Order: sequence, then structure tokens, then C-alpha cells
Amino acid sequence: MSQLIIRGGNPLSGEVTVQGAKNSVLPILAATLLNRGETVLRGCPRLRDVEASISILHHLGCQARWERDALVVNTADMERSEISDSLMREMRSSAIFLGAILARCGQADLSYPGGCELGPRPIDLHLSGLRDLGAEISEDGGMLHCRAAGMSGSDLLLSLPSVGATENLMLAACGAEGVTTISNAAREPEIVDLQNFLVTCGAEVEGAGSSTVTVRGGRQLHGCTYRVIPDRIVAATCLCAVASAGGSIYVRGAVEPHLATVTAALREAGCEIHSDAGGIACRSVHGLGAIRPVRTAPYPGFPTDAQAILMAALLRSRGTTVFEENIFISRYRHVDELTRMGALIRTAGRVAVVTGVERIHGAPVRATDLRGGAALCVAALAAEGESHISGLHHIDRGYEDLCGDLRNLGAQAARTEETEPIQE
Ligand code: EPZ
Repeated sequence: MSQLIIRGGNPLSGEVTVQGAKNSVLPILAATLLNRGETVLRGCPRLRDVEASISILHHLGCQARWERDALVVNTADMERSEISDSLMREMRSSAIFLGAILARCGQADLSYPGGCELGPRPIDLHLSGLRDLGAEISEDGGMLHCRAAGMSGSDLLLSLPSVGATENLMLAACGAEGVTTISNAAREPEIVDLQNFLVTCGAEVEGAGSSTVTVRGGRQLHGCTYRVIPDRIVAATCLCAVASAGGSIYVRGAVEPHLATVTAALREAGCEIHSDAGGIACRSVHGLGAIRPVRTAPYPGFPTDAQAILMAALLRSRGTTVFEENIFISRYRHVDELTRMGALIRTAGRVAVVTGVERIHGAPVRATDLRGGAALCVAALAAEGESHISGLHHIDRGYEDLCGDLRNLGAQAARTEETEPIQE
């Protein structure tokens, strides 16, 4: 079974370059269905989730191939509008293809995305928005059957700023005649990246990054070359790694405004952080102190995806830090694994209380989900002795080479590569 073996105790030093943003690339790959041409996506990270999206594009009849750090997609020959259950199961966020397939084909059939490690992943907001645009959607036997002979622009209101629903409706609106407004839209940087991609393809989209996105649909889009933004959660992972292990690193490509709540928390804990046009420098030499409560929230609030990795960095902090997870109902599955390393964490519903301890120790631990797995690596850097981290398929969904990045920063890290049965 593949494992990451990390021996704690080394301070980190040097420079790491941040990969392209997974949560930009996934909706942009769906958006390529709208331009019927060739898209050259530069800075596309090589991840399991990207491979899952490529499998879907191939299944739909499109071409996709790697050319160095670019993924070249051509959707001219798209011939299907359905996604099989097995493909949907590979990646819960495959629902993001729904709006683009509907806009391109006027119909879409895909299996209902079930829950995942973070709990249920409902798409009711996606479906109600598509119905408001004129789609007829029926559900039977776990399958979604969507028909939209001609969608018309509409004023949509999201009951909560869902990232996926905002993206799905932006893509569907590109295929709807007239103007669509999406109010209470998510404001994440990846939404702005999607808008910028669509505009580069010739779409009329504006307002991304604010709570109201406006799309004028019905335009013929064309292929383009586009570079995605850096992955702010991978950048946050690198910063939390040096906060945990101690030392001084430079995270090239990191854009501080994209993760300002994370850098604010790390500064409060005692890290020295300086940003420039090229990235973010972070130095941690005097250990960390506990910080004010960390409440996850939609952007620009504290990102839920950084909750586990910041928690892991604070395990040996002086004092007690309270976390409140307000986005997903099951996002503390990493706590039991951190406890095996000697962490002192109490959870009650959405709240986790982390009491700093003098030392933590290496242990055999298992990644429970993508960011929970990254958190185990962050903790292992500060642990006495060796940690053996399994469940690497979770980590490989979002990190191109976390082990390599940590080794290049001076960590004692190695990865065994026996084949590992992928478990749900
Ligand atoms: C995106 O997921 C990200 N994934 C997640 O990153 C991220 O944690 C999340 O946004 C929040 O920032 C991608 O972009 C591929 P949501 P998404 O719709 O779109 C509820 C990672 O680690 N909800 O904003 O699924 C939902 O259950 C992943 O990279 C509904 O109730 O998130 C959740 O509680 C994990 N009905 C909350 O809203 C809906 O129709 C936020 O979900 C849609 C969502």
C-alpha cells in the first residue's frame, strides 16, 4: 500500500512554486464544452481530479492531451450528453459538467452525485437555478434527466453562495438567450478565473468576485489559450507546513489576497509573513501561539479547505484555539488521526477545540479526505519520529507532488509506491 513516510524535526527552508488551481481547472474544463474549439490550458496541474475530468471529456467524445504543463482540449467532436455513474463516482464535483452540457446540447443525463468524505453534496441549488432558466429536470433511479430545448436568461437568486451552483449556472447561462443575473453568487477567486476564461472565449460575463454575476448568453464562443491562477489552498498548505515545522520558505506564485484570512491567522500565531509580486515569504522560528476562533465561511471568509491544515499547524501552539466549521457538516474526520499523533482536540458538532501540547509523535495514520490528508503531512513535520501516512489517493486528488515539495524544502519525506487498492 503506498505510503508517505515523514520523519519530523527538520525546519523547512528554500522555495516552492505553487501549482495551478484545482478548483479553477475543474469548472474551466467543463466550460471548454461551450467553445467547440481548441483550448490550451496552461498551468493545469496533473491531479487525479483533473484525470477524472479528462475521462469525462473523452467519454463525451472530446479530445484532451497533455503538452508539457498545458492541457490541450478540443471539444469540436462532442457526441454524447450523458455521464455514466462510474465516471460520476470518480469525482463528486463532476456535477459541474451539467450546465455546460445543457448549454451545448440542450439535454444532459447524469447520475445524481452522492455524498463524499465531507458529508452530503446536494445540488438542489444547481437544479433550481437550471429550472429557472427553463430546463426540465426529472430524477429517477439516481439518474438526472435534463432537457432544455431553449433556455432563457433569468434573474436567479442563490439561497447560499454555493461555489458549484454559481459556476454551473454561469455556464448554463452562456447557452441561454438574453441576460441572466446570479444574485448571492459565490465570490471565490476561482469564480473570477472562470469568468476570465469565458470572456477570453468571447463570452459576455461580468461581476464575478462580487455577489452578483451577469451573463449575456447566446454568443458563439471560440477556443483560446488561458493560464489558470495559482492554487491558494496548496499555497496555504505550504505556509502551514513551515508554521508547523519551523524555518523560512518562499512560496512562489502565491497571491496573498486569495488567502488573506489564512495569512492573517498565521501572523496572529506568530509567523513573519511578507508578500511581494512573486509570492509569499513565511518565517516561523519562535513556535506558535493560539489564536482567536477560526470560523470557516464563504470567500472572503476563512476557507473551509484550509481548516484542517491550519489546525494541524497549531497542535503544539501555546494555548487553545477554537475552530467552527460552517460549510460542511463532516469536516473533522482528520481529528481522530491527529489524536493518534498525540494532539489534544475535542469536537462537538461544528466546533473543534485544539489545546496545544508540548510535543506530538509520529504514528501510522490514514488520510480520510483530500485536505485532511494534507493536514496529517503538516502535523508529521513537527512530530517526533516517523509518521506513515496511507490513503494517498485522497491527497493525489489535489496535490501534484506534496512529498516532493516537502522534500525540496528540507523535510525528511519519502513515498513508497506499491500499488494501493483504491477504497471509497
Ligand atoms: C467547492 O465545492 C470546492 N470544490 C470545495 O473544495 C470547497 O470546499 C467548497 O467549494 C467551498 O468553498 C470545487 O470547487 C471543485 P459549495 P462545492 O457548493 O461547489 C451546500 C477541495 O478540497 N450546498 O460552495 O461543492 C453544500 O452541501 C474541495 O478542493 C447545498 O446545500 O461547495 C455545502 O454545505 C472540497 N446545495 C455548502 O453548500 C447545493 O446545491 C457549500 O457548498 C450546493 C451546495
